[in-house]
Amino acid sequence: MNSQSCVSIQKEWDIVAARQMGREIAKQLGFGTVDQARITTAISELARNIYLYAGEGQICFEIVETLEQKGMTIVATDSGPGIEDLSLVMQDGYTTSGGLGAGLPGVRRLMDDFDMESEVGHGTRIVTTKWVR
Ligand SMILES: Nc1ncnc2c1ncn2[C@@H]1O[C@H](COP(=O)(O)OP(=O)(O)O)[C@@H](O)[C@H]1O
Ligand SMILES: [Mg+2]
Repeated sequence: MNSQSCVSIQKEWDIVAARQMGREIAKQLGFGTVDQARITTAISELARNIYLYAGEGQICFEIVETLEQKGMTIVATDSGPGIEDLSLVMQDGYTTSGGLGAGLPGVRRLMDDFDMESEVGHGTRIVTTKWVR
């Protein structure tokens, strides 16, 4: 896979489609089943946030390869309301989901690199990578 693969998130079912595409890419990259589960959980959390808080957006997957490492990046973008206080939503316990993924702090823990940008009234972009080990 050279180009990036995206799933547009508009309805609840799209969350499942994003998970499936992500799992397929993770498998192809050589991630073990435990890491595949971590990655798909992260995808679910990000896609569900788009669906719930922004209404619509997209989840894209990129394969990243350096000389020493190979990994998978998830890019979640939306043009929704944005997040006012980024450090607040990254605190454990702020999340209301309570599920396996434990919201955005959970995504950060499940993945290796995590970066979030958001502008109130303009939208949110989260870029997170997991490296194959
Ligand atoms: N894409 C988004 N756009 C706007 N607000 C968001 C987005 N993602 C998350 N948020 C805000 O951040 C909060 C924390 O998100 P999260 O950690 O996933 O927990 P939860 O979804 O369980 O509340 C949400 O309650 C919501 O207010
Ligand atoms: Mg959430």
